[in-house]
This record gives sequence, structure tokens and C-alpha cells, in this order.
Amino acid sequence: QERELILAFETSCDETSVAVVENGNRILSNFVATQIKSHQRFGGVVPEVASRHHIEEITIGIHKALTEADVTVADLTAVAVTYGPGLVGSLLIGVTAAKTFAFAHQLPLIPVNHMAGHIYAAHYVEPFSFPLLALLVSGGHTQIVLMTAADQFEIIGDTRDDAAGEAFDKVGRVLGINYPAGKEIDRLAHEGHDVYDFPRAMIHEANYDFSFSGLKSAFINKVHNAEQRQETLNRADLAASFQASVVDVLVAKVSAALEKYPVQQLVLAGGVAANHGLRDALKETLATRYPQTRLVAAPLPLCGDNAAMIGAAAHVELADKHFAKMDLNADPSLEF
Ligand code: KG4
Ligand code: ZN
Repeated sequence: QERELILAFETSCDETSVAVVENGNRILSNFVATQIKSHQRFGGVVPEVASRHHIEEITIGIHKALTEADVTVADLTAVAVTYGPGLVGSLLIGVTAAKTFAFAHQLPLIPVNHMAGHIYAAHYVEPFSFPLLALLVSGGHTQIVLMTAADQFEIIGDTRDDAAGEAFDKVGRVLGINYPAGKEIDRLAHEGHDVYDFPRAMIHEANYDFSFSGLKSAFINKVHNAEQRQETLNRADLAASFQASVVDVLVAKVSAALEKYPVQQLVLAGGVAANHGLRDALKETLATRYPQTRLVAAPLPLCGDNAAMIGAAAHVELADKHFAKMDLNADPSLEF
């Protein structure tokens, strides 16, 4: 069969997504229903609310993804689904929908790790050549991953506490920015300057690990101390200084990893990969210091959670016939 079509599901957090992906490299449809509005008044994702939304959206998503791709069930080769990591109740909706769909239509079911999916969003930009390094930055993860083959992932660096995206969201709360705050801080940072001195934790340590909780605390203290003294701080400068600190650390650790592993491709993926300051700084660093390495950044619309990235990751598993049985369960703390 030359035309391989995967129907992919992603429901790990607060986006319900269903996509149809052709041959692992072409998106025929990528339906994404975001629940952000429902969670904003709580300042973060409420798991129970998320699950209920997934239930409402998932069948609509299947219908829309198939219709927009202009394919029928009979055209499909396989079904793919994120089974972890993520919120267990959210994951279960996608897993159950995918299992049911696969069983009803006698299609193979491909289980996909959400973080592998994020990496494969960059596969739409260009094919991977191994070994490669990936900087995975999302709301729940901050990792440097060494990929030695299409389905071989080794975490060489990780956060000791908060994820980068989490730091953006927590700092956003102090600035009165709605969840998720990353995009707005990114925009504000562009209007400001790095004038406030925030810590760059672990930047000189001989490892590829991160820590962002100290930065978060330093930021909160700075803002609260200024409030007590009735000083006003420039919001754009605060955003720019915070973002510069995060970007400096990410770039430094990626640089250290590139010294040890002089790979040809550096994949940048995950929700925080949409950050303009980070994309520009990495591009600049590679161009000047690591010209043998190309930045393969996930396309902006595919940085956040979506099912097209799950379909791309599933394509690799399909070739190896890594199928799940009907007892597939959600694994909220799944690792590579
Ligand atoms: O990958 P993702 O959509 O969900 C998880 O798997 O966690 O990542 C969401 C995170 C949020 O913390 C959000 O604030 C952050 O990505 N984010 C950004 C930007 N856009 C989204 N952070 C920094 N700059 C951005 N432009
Ligand atoms: Zn994600």
C-alpha cells in the first residue's frame, strides 16, 4: 500500500486533537479544539474539566479530521494515540476513543509517547538524520534528548524542578497575564530590555540539567519588594529580563551538549519552542559557534499540543509494527 494514512489522537492535556497524516510527512487535517478559556479563570488546567471537554470534542474531532482530509474510514492504515505522559483522565479519553475506533474498524493501534510526538513535529520541516539532539521545552518538560535512531531517545539533561513553560506561566500570574502566559510574555519581552538582573541557575555546572524554580522565586520577590516600596517596575523590561534568563540557560546547556555531541541537527520542540527569543538565540548560536549543526525548529503552529505530531511519530512505529493490544492503558508518567 503506497498511501499510508494514520488517524492520530492527542488528548494529554487541554487540547483535543485529531489528525490525518499521510506517509508520516504530510498533514491532511489537524483538528485542534483548545479548552484554554475554560481553564483561565482557575489559573491553570483543571483535570476534571479537561476530561469533560475531551469527551465533548473527540467525536466531533474524528468527524472533522476525516471530512477535512477527504478520506473515508476504509482508506485508513492505522490509528495512533498519545498514551502518556499527561493528565490521566485526559489521556484516557483519547486512548479509549482510539481503541474503540481501531477495534470497530479492525485497524492496528499505535501507542505514542507525547514527548516523542513533540520532537516529530519538527520532522515536517526536514527528515531526521541520526544522531541528533533535541531541546524539548513544554509546560511539563525541559529536556535535552539524544536520538540515536528514529525511536531511540536518551535524556541527557533534565530540569531538577520546574519546567521552562511552567516558569513562564507562574511568572505570568505575577504580571496578571492569563494562563498560559508564554506567548504574551514573549510579546512583551520584545518591547523591553534585559535590565533586571535575574539568576541563571546551574549555567556553569558541568551537566545538561536545568533549574527554574529559583528564577521564578527571584522574579516574584522582585515584584513584591517593589510593590512594598511603592516602586514601579517596567513590565516589558521584567518580561525581557525573565525571558533572557531562561533563554541564556537553555542556549548554554544546548551548547555544552553540542560540544560533546557535534550532531548535524538540533531539534527544537514543545510549546516553549514557539518562543521567538529562544528561536532567534539558538539560530544565532548555531550559525556562529556550531555551523555544522542546523536548527530544525518545529513549525510555529505545531509547537503546541496537536495530533499531527503524533501521526508523524506513529509513522516510525508503523514500519516496525509496534502495535498496542486492546489492553493499552494511559500512563500519566510515561518516560522515553
Ligand atoms: O507543549 P505544550 O503545548 O503543552 C505541554 O505538553 O506542556 O506547552 C505549553 C507551554 C505553556 O507553559 C505555555 O506558556 C508555553 O508552552 N508557551 C510559550 C510560548 N507559547 C507557549 N512559552 C514561551 N514563549 C512562547 N511563545
Ligand atoms: Zn505537549
